[in-house]
Amino acid sequence: MCGIVGYVGTKNCAPILIDGLRRLEYRGYDSAGLAVYDGTRINVTRAIGKLRNLEAALAAAPLTGTTGIGHTRWATHGRVSEANAHPHVAGEIAVIHNGIIENHLALRARLVKDGAKILSDTDTEIIAHLIDAQCRKGLSLEDAVRAALKEVEGAYAIAVIRKSEPQKIVVAKNASPLVLGLGEGENLCGSDIPAVLPYTRRVIILEDGQMAVLTADAVRVTTVDGTPVDAQVKTIDWSPAMAEKSGYKHFMLKEIHEQPRAIEDTVRGRLDRENGDIVAEEIGLSPELATKIERVYLVACGTSSHAAMVGRYYLERLARIPTVVELASEFRSRDPVIGPGDLVVAISQSGETLDTLMAAKIAKEKGAKLLAIVNVMGSAIARASDAELYTRAGPEIGVASTKCFTAQMVALLMLAVYLGRRRGTLPAARAAELVEGIARLPQQMRDVLTGTRQLVLHLARRYMDARDVLFLGRGASFPIALEGALKLKEISYIHAEGYAAGEMKHGPIALIDANVPVVVLAPKDEHHDKSMSNLQEAKARGGRIIAIASEGDEDVHGLAEEVVEVPVVDPEFTPFLTVIPLQLFAYYVADLKGTDVDQPRNLAKTVTVE
Ligand code: M6R
Repeated sequence: MCGIVGYVGTKNCAPILIDGLRRLEYRGYDSAGLAVYDGTRINVTRAIGKLRNLEAALAAAPLTGTTGIGHTRWATHGRVSEANAHPHVAGEIAVIHNGIIENHLALRARLVKDGAKILSDTDTEIIAHLIDAQCRKGLSLEDAVRAALKEVEGAYAIAVIRKSEPQKIVVAKNASPLVLGLGEGENLCGSDIPAVLPYTRRVIILEDGQMAVLTADAVRVTTVDGTPVDAQVKTIDWSPAMAEKSGYKHFMLKEIHEQPRAIEDTVRGRLDRENGDIVAEEIGLSPELATKIERVYLVACGTSSHAAMVGRYYLERLARIPTVVELASEFRSRDPVIGPGDLVVAISQSGETLDTLMAAKIAKEKGAKLLAIVNVMGSAIARASDAELYTRAGPEIGVASTKCFTAQMVALLMLAVYLGRRRGTLPAARAAELVEGIARLPQQMRDVLTGTRQLVLHLARRYMDARDVLFLGRGASFPIALEGALKLKEISYIHAEGYAAGEMKHGPIALIDANVPVVVLAPKDEHHDKSMSNLQEAKARGGRIIAIASEGDEDVHGLAEEVVEVPVVDPEFTPFLTVIPLQLFAYYVADLKGTDVDQPRNLAKTVTVE
């Protein structure tokens, strides 16, 4: 997830672009850059780190001009460096990009063969060279962008300027957001409404497959194929603060709703749907190593450790590898017996959690192979690892982790499918089913978000004054119960516990009485009968049962006080759906109680202390 912004008009554009980038910094902040046409040439300034570094560079050597583009980066391809910062230039062209080009390696090889000098590791520079090549054939910028995009597969929101066509920005979009701001004698574009809001409230939200040509006086929208589009102009009445959160009240709610997109981005270019497999180069473990691993340790903290627990189910079931889940703080507090036959997977949103980092380093010292599943490119854990599998959820601002949790689960599922195929434990037909299932997940998650929201809000109103809440789950639903409890306690400050449903009768059942809501995860899976027995046990003790169940499960309706239904899916995908109502429940309870949802008391987003 990156932020892009563009301006064409009569004002000096660099301050406007910087202002836009500041409003988009929540989308990424590892480097930033501007390209501005000064009446003769396009000048580019880029700097790694926060926006203030770019501002310092511009203060030393200002860019002037009335047409320009700007970018704030969240690295996905290529490490954090000035060379990999946007804009990227090829010939007369400067390009900024948010998204992931899936076929960039093949395009890069062809361009290099044709003599292109590619200076960065990014997929974006490939787009610049493709457009430049078309311009050299005599095409206008608009037609060159159109022709270049025909060769590109993947997600993009791009803005392009050309030296010999000044006072013009060409933009295009597929699967990454792009908004056009319609001003008086000036027009703008941006990844999100906040970037354009100080200058205009009239916007066009581009659809996938559309592009536009912006000049100071006009905005013309077409499809990428060239068909004119009569785009709808909307008037935005959000405050700037609301706009930053895309109209959501809190980042956490926004991030809950971003999960389908986070999954799409995390799996983009990694699913080989033709062969029902995972693209080997994307996993970071060679097929040879995949067959040699004797044991996997999944090491993480907090929510990431719950994703690890779901990952253990995948690795054991699909790849038949003995798998151990370790809390990073405990792992490093022992003297774990690990060595060269072991794969240690460090899972972390921030990539900076001290306990996870130290555990990863211990594992490496003992000779284990280290794979990082992290969200922040170039973070300490990524740097310490032998291989990285990035979740591409984009920056997560809310302290309570949501979109990174589901992105971590899908990364672990892809890892398990990859290992299962290489080790011969996962039949081709089953792998193909899972790959197709992964591709369907984002839409199913969207359906759950829209289908459960109202009922969960009603439940939050009903149970917001509870003193204690229990969450029960079995199999892969156990970590989801833990995650539901963690979400509720960290933002609503209600005491909540997650238990393995079968463990209830060994003690925790004593906690249940008529004042204790019990959330039972009872989806239709191999554990359903046993989950139903546990549900009955809790009900018999007077507990107020809220079931998270599969659509059409009449048995549950007969027993539970409230039932939140999720679609019936292949059981491997159930955790992705059942966690959503629990995230929403925690959010709505906290919001109703008036807590500081995005920055709950005593907590920090990144924990760099022991
Ligand atoms: O950045 P990490 O994934 O390593 O962070 C781990 C935990 O600190 C984190 O998941 C924490 O538990 C969250 N606040 C949970 O919402």
